[in-house]
Amino acid sequence: MSEIFEPKKSRFNNPAFKNMCEYNDLMNEFKEDYEATWGRFASEKIEWFKPYDTILDESNAPFYKWFVGGKMNVAHQCVDRHLDTKKNKAAIIFEGDNGDQRIITYRELAYEVNKTANMFKNQFDIKKGDRVVVYMPMIPEAAITMLACAKIGAIHSIVFGGFSAEALKDRIIDAEAKLVVTADGAFRKGTPYMLKPVVDEALKTGCECVKKVCIVERNGEDITWVAGRDYSYNELIKYESSKCEPEMMDSEDPLFLLYTSGSTGKPKGVQHSSAGYILWAQMTMEWVFDIKDNDTYWCTADVGWITGHTYIVYGPLAAGATTVMFEGVPTFPDAGRCWKMIEEYKINQFYTAPTAIRMLHKMGADEPAKYDLSSLRILGTVGEPIDPPAWKWYYEEVGGSQCSIVDTYWQTETGGHMISPLPAATPIKPACATFPLPGIMAEIIDADGTPTEIGEKGFMCITKPWPSMIRNIWGDSERFVKSYFGDCKKDGKPVYFTGDGAMMSEDKYITITGRTDDVINVSGHRMGTAEVESAIKKHPNVAAVAVVGKPHDIKGEGIFAYIVLKAVATQEADQTADELELSKEINKIIKNEIGAIALCDEMAFVPDLPKTRSGKIMRRILRSIVKGEAITQDTSTLEDPSIVGKIESIVRGA
Ligand code: WTA
Repeated sequence: MSEIFEPKKSRFNNPAFKNMCEYNDLMNEFKEDYEATWGRFASEKIEWFKPYDTILDESNAPFYKWFVGGKMNVAHQCVDRHLDTKKNKAAIIFEGDNGDQRIITYRELAYEVNKTANMFKNQFDIKKGDRVVVYMPMIPEAAITMLACAKIGAIHSIVFGGFSAEALKDRIIDAEAKLVVTADGAFRKGTPYMLKPVVDEALKTGCECVKKVCIVERNGEDITWVAGRDYSYNELIKYESSKCEPEMMDSEDPLFLLYTSGSTGKPKGVQHSSAGYILWAQMTMEWVFDIKDNDTYWCTADVGWITGHTYIVYGPLAAGATTVMFEGVPTFPDAGRCWKMIEEYKINQFYTAPTAIRMLHKMGADEPAKYDLSSLRILGTVGEPIDPPAWKWYYEEVGGSQCSIVDTYWQTETGGHMISPLPAATPIKPACATFPLPGIMAEIIDADGTPTEIGEKGFMCITKPWPSMIRNIWGDSERFVKSYFGDCKKDGKPVYFTGDGAMMSEDKYITITGRTDDVINVSGHRMGTAEVESAIKKHPNVAAVAVVGKPHDIKGEGIFAYIVLKAVATQEADQTADELELSKEINKIIKNEIGAIALCDEMAFVPDLPKTRSGKIMRRILRSIVKGEAITQDTSTLEDPSIVGKIESIVRGA
């Protein structure tokens, strides 16, 4: 059994949970009366324009509805309702790549959100339910745009700035977006980089749905302006009123779409609701980050991912907190940047990904000691399993062995944290997400709902609906049901399956063991093998391809591609071209089709793939080979069992 660290109390003043008894009491309250307990929190936390009639409607499961009949507005919940008590409090502290700063109070944020909302309505004819694609750098206008959409009931769909024009175009078309909000570009590592040219490229063909493009001028570099389509945010905003009435939104009206990778096919547009989503964003902010009125909180994610949505913008602002937004990268100008910012802003909660922790550990193990990090109370990690050495360094060197570490397990689809320690209450174990949060009925079961034995791997399922869960896949209800409610059942009823495996120790601690499907987790970002493979197949010389994740020191997993060339497949030649040259060409295609985040770390050019007689590629064998594991799978069902040895010698010899 791994070492247990007792919760730190010294830096906590009246924490959300003082001990595990309080946790158990609340969990029991949920177990005894699930709906009423959620109802209690919804009434306490949300400022309703009209109260809801029904807490949970399960009549059309798994299309669950929460707080039915209620009227509210997420921008009102995050901004306007704080104006009585916090108008002069910093809502957003922005630090640019080059160190420039902006501090935006709640009052200023309300002004900006209202002006932007009016601009969307008046200049771009955006109405409730219209989709707005946001392709933005990490600047306050990204958060302002999100909130402005929420204010008028438009549905935003943020596309991470690292995605290519093709990927952006696919998402624009799928969402049938009417407006794209972007920036000329921004700054990274001291130099300007561009976003607007990517939007221009994406809009070249097939995006007739997009009528206008709104451009924030951030880096001031030259861009092309298309007359009648492209408008300057900075210009138009000047003429708008700072008053804007919130749209009365139903609890279940969609707040946003966020595309994420699945094991097959194209990325899916995960659709979130208004009331249920914001309720859990706020509750987890208060519980897991123990946010207090004087705290300064910093999450290093990008707004293009779910962590940026829930824990840079919606959660902190709903909780009335001060959230830090950072445009740059943690290693510029050196590996002390984060620690310097923590010292300067007196950050109390710092939330980042294991990839960043591993990188900062490797590049500057002694850097944290050079700064005063005594303001820190909570350190968070998210997105991928954290390995014990990285955890220990984070705990000891960054947290000075004085902070609670919250290893938060959740997904784009869950909207907010599912399994996480509660600071000051949960005794923590390195690299362990610990226990489900109160209200979350997380269970490790087999496909029929039988709980797995202690220490045995099983499916990580959430067996009761919860308010912030995914509501649908945009435009594909069938895929929604199949992807999440098709694999596991409990008491004969389909339950939500996360796609992850997990196991429980004797003392009920949960450890996430990783994806059970073909999703690869690169630097905490989800990559679908099918997406990468379909990009690689666009190369004219490629006959077949299979990609798998390969353990990587910094990124957690890297992408490894097994490629069969056409000439080899048709036995015209053993080798068609220089492999190095081919690898470069293939990666160029991936960069164009998806973006640099999906580049292959390694490629092996092999004579064939291990296929069963029915043509199914046995990826498990391919995964074992890259990990250097002995092949334990039965290879006798393969069309050509000798292929395994041939592939092994190519990979091992490489
Ligand atoms: C993985 C990110 C281990 C998991 C919030 C999940 C984790 C996927 C953890 C979701 C964690 C996330 N420990 N694995 N603490 N947190 N994951 O949708 O495989 O980008 O299914 O959401 O990341 O990734 P997504």
